Amino acid sequence: MCCSRLLFFTCLILILHLFAPTLALDTIHLCSDTGNYASNSTYGANLNTVLASMSSNTNISYGFYNLSVGENSNKVNAIALCRGDIGTDECRSCVNASSQELLQKCPDQKEAIIWYPKCMVRYSNRSIYGVLEAVYPEYTFEKPRNASDVDAFTRVLVPLLERLQNLTAAGNSTRKFAAGRAAQDTQTIYALLMCTPDLDELDCKSCLEQTREWVFRPCCKGKLGGRYMSPSCDLRYETYPFYDLKAETPPPSLLPPTEGKESKPSRTTIVIVVLTIGFALLIVSNFVFYLRVRKSRQKVKSEARHEISSVHESFIRYDFGTIRVATENFSEVNKLGEGGFGAVYKGKLQNGLEIAVKRLSMGSIQGNIEFENEVLLLARLQHRNLLSIMGFCLEGNERLLIYEFVPNASLDHFLFDPIKQVQLNWEKRHKIIEGIARGLLYLHEDSRHRIIHRDLKASNILLDAYMNPKISDFGTARLLDRTEGNTMRIIGT
Ligand SMILES: *[C@@H]1O[C@H](CO)[C@@H](O)[C@H](O)[C@H]1NC(C)=O
Ligand SMILES: *[C@@H]1O[C@H](CO)[C@@H](O)[C@H](O)[C@H]1NC(C)=O
Ligand SMILES: *[C@@H]1O[C@H](CO)[C@@H](O)[C@H](O)[C@H]1NC(C)=O
Ligand SMILES: *[C@@H]1O[C@H](CO)[C@@H](O)[C@H](O)[C@H]1NC(C)=O
Ligand SMILES: *[C@@H]1O[C@H](CO)[C@@H](O)[C@H](O)[C@H]1NC(C)=O
Ligand SMILES: *[C@@H]1O[C@H](CO)[C@@H](O)[C@H](O)[C@H]1NC(C)=O
Ligand SMILES: *[C@@H]1O[C@H](CO)[C@@H](O)[C@H](O)[C@H]1NC(C)=O
Ligand SMILES: *[C@@H]1O[C@H](CO)[C@@H](O)[C@H](O)[C@H]1NC(C)=O
Ligand SMILES: *[C@@H]1O[C@H](CO)[C@@H](O)[C@H](O)[C@H]1NC(C)=O
Ligand SMILES: *[C@@H]1O[C@H](CO)[C@@H](O)[C@H](O)[C@H]1NC(C)=O
Repeated sequence: MCCSRLLFFTCLILILHLFAPTLALDTIHLCSDTGNYASNSTYGANLNTVLASMSSNTNISYGFYNLSVGENSNKVNAIALCRGDIGTDECRSCVNASSQELLQKCPDQKEAIIWYPKCMVRYSNRSIYGVLEAVYPEYTFEKPRNASDVDAFTRVLVPLLERLQNLTAAGNSTRKFAAGRAAQDTQTIYALLMCTPDLDELDCKSCLEQTREWVFRPCCKGKLGGRYMSPSCDLRYETYPFYDLKAETPPPSLLPPTEGKESKPSRTTIVIVVLTIGFALLIVSNFVFYLRVRKSRQKVKSEARHEISSVHESFIRYDFGTIRVATENFSEVNKLGEGGFGAVYKGKLQNGLEIAVKRLSMGSIQGNIEFENEVLLLARLQHRNLLSIMGFCLEGNERLLIYEFVPNASLDHFLFDPIKQVQLNWEKRHKIIEGIARGLLYLHEDSRHRIIHRDLKASNILLDAYMNPKISDFGTARLLDRTEGNTMRIIGT
């Protein structure tokens, strides 16, 4: 048992190093675990036919392609979609390259999808044509920097995405695509939205709406660019032109100016206008300089405030009574485990929602306000491979953290159980390792506040119903100990 544990973590560390650099790339694939096919099966042959035909196909004339090959259980359905601003040749070579990569990355999965910067290819044994799929977008940031003024940035980004969403959904059955820009301060935001055109207007709108909502979640809000990919739609924005500007749909108010109308202004008018503008600019630049100085003094304060207000919307402070009822008085029956920082209980809120409650052991040296601020900070960290914090409770000596509940317990339950061990084949292990790496990378690099876990172990890796790993207990060390930055001290296991 000791050796298998050692082996697992050696692999984890190796793979962390192997994967870290490639995670930043724009190419993302997902191999579904709904089922496998044998390499010499009819399904495999049909899949090869479909993908080869997509790659060589001259029918990709409008950037969207759907094809099915085979009968009954061996039928393979495939869809390819290119970005609306690229030409036929570029589209074909993108589809070719991504199909080949998909076959390599998901060698025996019955269903898979890959997103390249300029195209998307997916296939499945079930019917996917005209079916809306948008539940959980993948997202990547080319440059994970945040806007200097998140609120101002958001105020411009929201209407731009709304406008483009309407335009995209209003497209026809061969093309649902819109690109456009909006000016924010000294910079311009460029955005591009598309749906697979087999969706109808309502489905397309609904897909983009669900995807758009992610842009403003704590994970992503205020980033100076990002791409959000669902099987049915795709959204990207940056602060530089990343698409062919000729493909833009101009906003109604910025239609090309009607020419030939203006009369020639006289020389004196020009001189007066130039002088006035120059004088105005001088005043404005002085004023802006004054504002900048003032703003930079206030910045630290307002950033902290903003952070807390953006979490509050979905974050709840529970009262102790509610949680005591939900966990049936913290009964032994509901106890899920005992960690380094306290016991964990399963609970059920009155509305039926299942939760996990961590009852922090006493001995914290933190004040209540400090504790609350730390928890708010942790709640801001949202990633598919981190366990979400839903709220907290602070009453007397009681300090509770309320988490989402995941059904498949922790990784150690699988790894060290002779029977369950067998369920974890190498594909699943690989997926789990990759997920842990993604979660850690987020904690270390992409989140606003670098969090060092300091107690990463199999019992802190929880598994959801789809066996996706979720790191738990991150940041708990911070809650009980204020020696941040001093990682020489060993705490946890
Ligand atoms: C696709 O394959 C999976 C796994 O083999 C199977 O459970 C499912 O029923 C298949 N779906 C269809 C529509 O054939
Ligand atoms: C596929 O290959 C395996 C061994 O590699 C063989 O046992 C099986 O009969 C083959 N199936 C078909 C349909 O050829
Ligand atoms: C697809 O790409 C492969 C190499 O990745 C190349 O050999 C093949 O000729 C390409 N096919 C087409 C139709 O371009
Ligand atoms: C191209 O489309 C036509 C019909 O639109 C179809 O008959 C033909 O088989 C397609 N070509 C390929 C290579 O799929
Ligand atoms: C492909 O798209 C056409 C509409 O353009 C549709 O009639 C056809 O059923 C689709 N084919 C498949 C295999 O889904
Ligand atoms: C988008 O369309 C909806 C109705 O479908 C409308 O209420 C909304 O104002 C539109 N938004 C923009 C920005 O055009
Ligand atoms: C769909 O719209 C595009 C441009 O918006 C146009 O070029 C194309 O002809 C339209 N297709 C159909 C079938 O209306
Ligand atoms: C809950 O447990 C405490 C002791 O652990 C006990 O004093 C209290 O009466 C219990 N409350 C209920 C409602 O069972
Ligand atoms: C941007 O986010 C990083 C962490 O991701 C943070 O260190 C930095 O202070 C933030 N800058 C601004 C201006 O908000
Ligand atoms: C737990 O994991 C197993 C695979 O080991 C899976 O079949 C099951 O659906 C998962 N979910 C639950 C709730 O058990």
